[in-house]
Amino acid sequence: MGQFYGIFQDIKELNMGGITELGIYEGIFSNVYANMKNSAQELDYYIENAFCVGKSILEIACGDGGNYMIPMAKKGFEVDGIEISKSMISRFYEKQNRLSEKVKNRLNIYNADIFEYETEKQYDLITIPSTTICLLADDEVRTKNLFRKIYKWLKPGGRFMFDYRVDQSLTSEFISPIFSEVDKKMPYVMFMQEFNNIIVGRGIVNMYVETMENGEPKKYIASSNKKIITDSLVKNLLQEIDFQLHNTYMVEMKNAKVKLIVLEKEIEKNE
Ligand SMILES: C[S@@+](CC[C@H](N)C(=O)[O-])C[C@H]1O[C@@H](n2cnc3c(N)ncnc32)[C@H](O)[C@@H]1O
Repeated sequence: MGQFYGIFQDIKELNMGGITELGIYEGIFSNVYANMKNSAQELDYYIENAFCVGKSILEIACGDGGNYMIPMAKKGFEVDGIEISKSMISRFYEKQNRLSEKVKNRLNIYNADIFEYETEKQYDLITIPSTTICLLADDEVRTKNLFRKIYKWLKPGGRFMFDYRVDQSLTSEFISPIFSEVDKKMPYVMFMQEFNNIIVGRGIVNMYVETMENGEPKKYIASSNKKIITDSLVKNLLQEIDFQLHNTYMVEMKNAKVKLIVLEKEIEKNE
């Protein structure tokens, strides 16, 4: 059960007409996610770095692939994705089926928890986009082990890119305005709000959706609870791993300011 605040808490408590709580990437919420636009600028940075290192890419926690996997496959890259949510995997297959055979064949998705996932394959570029690191950093030891695996999965000279929010304070509370969206085709109406640092160190997003299923009105609510990532946490997570810092970019989005880090696995030197 998630944490709900403000109007979302009221809606949940009133429970008029029955409200189902889902995971924020499950069921109707995977459709809502698919409708959200990512930053074109960030996609360009991933593409630019991919062109520098090679053809093979792994996207960790790739969602439905719509934001990065598919655009990168269209540019000619071979892209694998790992995703835990079955709803996101279904959305991915729907999108993949609409692609040309050539692009389709450059894409592979695996339904797995990245902390459990193992492979012998090595990649030129590994990414964790869309500030997803905040979902993977709750347990420091587990995250450091994930970073070690990523290092192992990279070819020498390969790059690892991930991003995190830099506009969330660890010292003050912040409640965003309510954001709303209507999709007349699906159809649904969605309300969303962010509650930062009400629980210290956590960014909580509440979402509420009303939709129609088989001619019946349906109401869903979801909450995600993410760790607020700081520069010092990132420094600590990377401390024991042999990555070289290659570059950082700052990306201004509509509702967020993001730092994108590019790390490189050094090419082994022949002494
Ligand atoms: C913010 S979305 C990003 C999706 C995609 N990378 C993008 O940029 O559009 C985060 C995704 O991480 C997935 N996820 C969360 N924890 C995971 C885990 N332990 N292993 C694999 N995927 C995970 C969620 O299901 C969700 O689809």
